[in-house]
Amino acid sequence: MQDWEQIIIANWKMQLNVQDSVKQAKQIKKLLDKNSINAATKIVVAPSFLAFSNVAEVFQNTRVVLGAQDSFEEDKGAYTGEVSLKNLQTLGCRFVSLGHSERRALGETDEVVNRKAKAVINHGLVPVICVGEPMKERQVHNSEDFVFRQLEKSLADIHIKEKHKVIIAYEPIWAIGTGDAMDPSEVGKMIQTIKSRYKLASVIYGGSIEPDNVHEFTKLKNIEGALVGGASLDAKTFVELIKKA
Ligand code: PGA
Repeated sequence: MQDWEQIIIANWKMQLNVQDSVKQAKQIKKLLDKNSINAATKIVVAPSFLAFSNVAEVFQNTRVVLGAQDSFEEDKGAYTGEVSLKNLQTLGCRFVSLGHSERRALGETDEVVNRKAKAVINHGLVPVICVGEPMKERQVHNSEDFVFRQLEKSLADIHIKEKHKVIIAYEPIWAIGTGDAMDPSEVGKMIQTIKSRYKLASVIYGGSIEPDNVHEFTKLKNIEGALVGGASLDAKTFVELIKKA
């Protein structure tokens, strides 16, 4: 499925209630209609699970596809509180973020990410495996080792045989939601290193991306897009960001 050159993923986290999610989706849809955006840019929106089907309805027959912020690996069963990948798929979900640092902070391990990633792939969906170092690892120049340990475990026994089947989102934790994006040249080095090991993975960057800095990242060699939190919460800002990417 090589239907895009660049991917921009909006991660709405737990920031919007159902009503505001629908409102935001409608505004994005309207603005996308009015603006000309590169056809090779894939636009993904990952709303909260509660708003998932309502947002999916708004984006029906548009170029925006739905992503999930997480999912469980089983299709059905006695798993109180979990969300089925298969159900998400029925609602139009195509991408599933796994191991976001905010989920890892709540106890999601590399092993869990690995199990979920395999299930996502088995369902024909694309996992977005999030990795990134905390500040204390960066301070001791251990970022690369830290990220590769996460990747090795999260991608254990997963053989990426085709482009666009697995996305790796490099998101240094200290750059998420802080307004303090990583220096693009440093991002470039990390992307190169990841690509040299995982040749067929699509690698994207996340962490304080805004309309004004997005192109500094998307122009980097081998990068294939961006994961956007804060700047995706305002429709105008988000569409502006996509245009500048
Ligand atoms: P941010 O979030 O754009 O607000 O830094 C990115 C993310 O958490 O994926």
